[in-house]
Amino acid sequence: MTESTVRQLSELEEAAAVPVPNADEVASRFPVSQNPTPASDEERAQALRDLDFGTTFSDHLAIEAWNPEEGWHGRSVEAYAPLALDPSAAVLHYGQEIFEGLKAYRWADGSVWTFRPTFNAARMNQSAVRMAMPSLPVEDFLGSIVQLVRVDANWVPSIPDSALYLRPMMIASEPFLGVRPAREYLYLVIASPVGPYFKGGLKPVSIWVSTDYHRAAPGGTGAAKTGGNYAASLLPQQLAAQQGFDQVCYLDAATNSVLEELGGMNVFVRRADGTVLTPALSGSILEGGTRSAIMQLLADRGVPVTETALSLAELVAGIEAGEITEMFACGTAAVVTPIGRIAGDGFDFTLPGTELTAAIHDELGGIQRGLVPDRHGWMYRLV
Ligand code: COI
Repeated sequence: MTESTVRQLSELEEAAAVPVPNADEVASRFPVSQNPTPASDEERAQALRDLDFGTTFSDHLAIEAWNPEEGWHGRSVEAYAPLALDPSAAVLHYGQEIFEGLKAYRWADGSVWTFRPTFNAARMNQSAVRMAMPSLPVEDFLGSIVQLVRVDANWVPSIPDSALYLRPMMIASEPFLGVRPAREYLYLVIASPVGPYFKGGLKPVSIWVSTDYHRAAPGGTGAAKTGGNYAASLLPQQLAAQQGFDQVCYLDAATNSVLEELGGMNVFVRRADGTVLTPALSGSILEGGTRSAIMQLLADRGVPVTETALSLAELVAGIEAGEITEMFACGTAAVVTPIGRIAGDGFDFTLPGTELTAAIHDELGGIQRGLVPDRHGWMYRLV
């Protein structure tokens, strides 16, 4: 390993580099009201054995509300239950909502940790600005997560590659059909014990590069983590799946030529000379915490990483010439996943390389699971 290269941090990375508040203090912001009918030990044990992605939920959720008079108020951790939402709630009509995704990992000594929660807190507030929603104090973001995971600590699985996936979200709850920012919001966190997003360990996935559909456009909401971006990805994803592909890679909407990202993951490209490229934050790409951490880990290894406008034509020419041998996708849910096949109109390639992907997967996964030293202070103890 060579000395770490100094990287220019993005605005979000700067915002995430705030001192992390003390877990006990932030947890006490969310009083707990215990679920009177939690899952039985047997039901929970089965849920923690048969892990899927996002199909089972823990006994509690965290919640608070916002209005202009009171600001954020009514914090609590309470029984997981369906919401009573007015059918005219703005979120149901105009999709004014944002969300985050992070994981709680059980370490071998039984303690429970999460990864860079201030990155998610900062990104949620960046998304809130774009979607004309109120910002959430970082203490509330962290407090909701700490308290929920403490109350539902027995829902954090311990089998390999498992975690408790945490889904913070903010929705426009005001009953109103006019098109303007709502005046009432709910913030919630739910928790779901999960196995790997893609089953089969480091099994390579196949990617279809779409030239017919885009997930985001310049000036649009692509850099915000909002449901509409994911809704827009469902049809292209369905069409790609019908052709046997696992995921879709999107190009920029302005020129239909520059690589952006997959439906819910950022992408990296390794050249045969050992250098690495990743699409630059164009304004329509979601900046991933995993993407950011991987750029740092590569810099730590002395691997030059360039954030660039990588065109599909260059990618195709690079693969044809044997100059590009390896690609991987990354995200909280997917962690680090090799891309084994990339195809689109007029091309279909197999990518043989997995060496760097496996190394980064093991290093990042090792940090998250307490098996590799956390040089950058990314881990935050919850329990
Ligand atoms: C995540 O990686 O946490 C995501 O939000 C991606 C996906 C599950 C929507």
